[in-house]
Amino acid sequence: MPDMTRRDLLASGLALSASSLLGRSSWARTAALLGGDLPAGSAAAVPAVAPREQLLFDFGWKFTFGDGSDPAKDLGFGFGQGDFAKTGDFKFAKAGFDDSKWRTINFPHDWAVELPFVRDDEQKSHGYKPLGRRYPETSVGWYRREFDIAASDLGRRIWVEFDGAFRDVLVFLNGCFIGRNNNGYAPFRFDLTDFLAYGARNYMVLRVDASFGDGWFYEGAGVYRHVWLTKTDAVHLGKWDSIVRSTVDGNSAVLAVSTVVENQSKRTASAKVSWKILDKNGATVANAESPEQSIAIDGTATYSATARIANPALWSVDDPHLYSAVVTVVSEGQVRDAERVTFGVRTAVFDPEKGFLLNGKPLKIQGTCNHQDHAGVGAALPDRLQWFRLAVLREMGCNAVRTSHNMPTPEWVDACDRMGMMMMCETRQMSSNPEGMQQLELMVKRYRNSPSIIIWSVGNEEWLLQGPMAEQGAKIVASMVRRCHELDPTRVVSAAVNGDNEKGVSEALDIIGFNYNQKYPDGFHKKYPQRALYGSETSSAICTRGEYATDPLRNTVNCYDGVVPWGETPEGWWKFYGTRDWGAGGFAWTGFDYRGEPTPYGWPSINSQFGIVDMCGFPKDHFYYYKAWWGKEPSLHLFPHWNWHGREGDEIPVWVYSNLEEVELLVNGKSLGSQKVPDLGHVEWKVKYEPGAIEARGSKDGKVVLTERRETTGPTVSLRITADRTEINADGEDLAIVKVEALDREGRPVPIANNTIGFKVSGTGALIGVGNGDPNCQESDKGTTRSLFNGLAQVILQSTKRPGEIHIEAVKEGWEGPELTPAKLVITTKAVELRPAVPILRER
Ligand code: GAL
Repeated sequence: MPDMTRRDLLASGLALSASSLLGRSSWARTAALLGGDLPAGSAAAVPAVAPREQLLFDFGWKFTFGDGSDPAKDLGFGFGQGDFAKTGDFKFAKAGFDDSKWRTINFPHDWAVELPFVRDDEQKSHGYKPLGRRYPETSVGWYRREFDIAASDLGRRIWVEFDGAFRDVLVFLNGCFIGRNNNGYAPFRFDLTDFLAYGARNYMVLRVDASFGDGWFYEGAGVYRHVWLTKTDAVHLGKWDSIVRSTVDGNSAVLAVSTVVENQSKRTASAKVSWKILDKNGATVANAESPEQSIAIDGTATYSATARIANPALWSVDDPHLYSAVVTVVSEGQVRDAERVTFGVRTAVFDPEKGFLLNGKPLKIQGTCNHQDHAGVGAALPDRLQWFRLAVLREMGCNAVRTSHNMPTPEWVDACDRMGMMMMCETRQMSSNPEGMQQLELMVKRYRNSPSIIIWSVGNEEWLLQGPMAEQGAKIVASMVRRCHELDPTRVVSAAVNGDNEKGVSEALDIIGFNYNQKYPDGFHKKYPQRALYGSETSSAICTRGEYATDPLRNTVNCYDGVVPWGETPEGWWKFYGTRDWGAGGFAWTGFDYRGEPTPYGWPSINSQFGIVDMCGFPKDHFYYYKAWWGKEPSLHLFPHWNWHGREGDEIPVWVYSNLEEVELLVNGKSLGSQKVPDLGHVEWKVKYEPGAIEARGSKDGKVVLTERRETTGPTVSLRITADRTEINADGEDLAIVKVEALDREGRPVPIANNTIGFKVSGTGALIGVGNGDPNCQESDKGTTRSLFNGLAQVILQSTKRPGEIHIEAVKEGWEGPELTPAKLVITTKAVELRPAVPILRER
């Protein structure tokens, strides 16, 4: 978008007070955007329509550690030669095995986040967690679950389906080995039909080995995504075979719908398929049908049809209108299987001259790259946290996310679809070997109906394939691109390349992604004017929330202009990619801080400092740079805080991020003058510190539009706790995300408070994690105490399935000093219809 247009979009005239506290307001805004409250579970993650059953298989598992080197401590697994000699002989997956001493847990579960930190530089990337072959005692986990299968299920096909687990999983059922999975991010499933006991109890065991990793960042350990038990008729739809492709044709959308039916019954089947297209209110807007076909035993048949929607509501970032298609298989007059596929109608085009166009209109990609972990819970995010994280990004004007560097969880994609967040969806391995291709295929098949996805990425920074092995790189990527096009001809394929993009992996790409290296894109564009390009990974600015000095002794980075040698400040990259008409925009590294890859410091830092927001989602100052230049509303942010006791008379840099025309700075009521805000820039002063207040007044057309103050606060005397929502679903999944602040006598947040706080939680919920955004904090994420970091901490509360109230109290904990007034909060947990789930058999 040209810069002037952005300025013109700014509302003027109203004198607003800028809110510097993110929380309820951002959530409420996002909820409003979605037209109401957010679903706890994601509708798209449970696409089952009767007669298919898709049961959440998350609750009531038992867990114990195994051992990667000593079979005696690993349930005897691998003791001798013959573990796999006979089918049916794995005793831990049979009746009579005693798991009573194992812990009870629910999925999603990440045991790595529960482990202590170890000072071992080899474990740096993994956030100093003891995982890997050198830590056999903490790298293997066993899960066990008993469940019943009804006699009436006989004849149905029954699968266990994992959305992803870390990392090498062996699945056993009723003594039999069922299958294995060998990567941390792709979904996998096994057909249990032949192995189940019908009208009887069944025993499933998972051995999960996190000794090997896929990345160079924190990856967690265990079954960190949802698991499902899915039951269908023997004549059923193929997995992720239902496709809805829309083409905008004048005032209507033409839908090409297709699917595959599999016949696993004992006789030839004759089946037809119909599609009912629903708008977002559930009204039928089109129908289609594909005629009867005969399907041999163990055979498949492909069905397709077209439908037309008149005057379709397009999917866009501002109005993410979604349709759904209910796909139904009928055989011998009976509905055999059905599923719901969510899709959108939109066009997404990368043009070498005009950049990116959504629905024909140029739109800069204002993107962030993100890993998938969060404070308190590691890689095991309840669904609600996906929404929360996207709402935080959205609040600063981010309109696209890159799932660096792996296939995302379905709830992240679903939330993007519903929230209007575009996506660059990336597979883990850049390889055309069978595993690499399988992961890629799963990703494209799984998500190709999602309107949020505008780019498939086949990988990140494979410098061997970009350079010394360019010949192989070109071939490998060509195979991957071809496969993407076969499965999804509607989307462009790209990769994140940290080189000049002239040879190797880049040759076969549809659009060119540059990681860093801002010296290359201009020359590339001149030389290859027919190739569209964008910044696949940029910035890598670093800062520690609430810190204004770079101090290697404290492992802090100042929040003004910290950046790694290969990176750019927010201004440095956005002034580049935000101003070239032919550039499509780009993705900053990163939206959120993440565990592992602690940069720029090592121990005791346990997470990165690249985030525009910290591990909890609390904004760093850079957040407001983006809010100013990515957002559509007037914005003004003044920093740093004004608590510099002992530094009286020192010069303190004072910066303002704003998209208004002019900003005036006042120190204790005295003006230091006004400055014009440079386009896509900021204004700054050097101010001799004296306690009191600094105030920034932002104006447009000569009128003050926004003001913001930073006041020297007194010491902490009380606490405040607020939640993103005070009423949540009593479904055992939903969350209240609680912000804890320290206040002075006048009720002002104390920006330098680092007090330790204790949390007492009772009622119909539990504390599932705590955090404070401090990259150097090694307190337990699972503790009931946490120190504030520069005034803030986060507590994540999860409901039980019992309606009622969760009470949380924040109190001063374990340190000398004046008493604090505790803070209390009540979260109501309301009765809701539960997602269908595999019942828990034993109360443990
Ligand atoms: C990139 C890489 C990212 C991250 C980043 C840190 O080269 O793709 O995963 O490591 O550097 O700046």
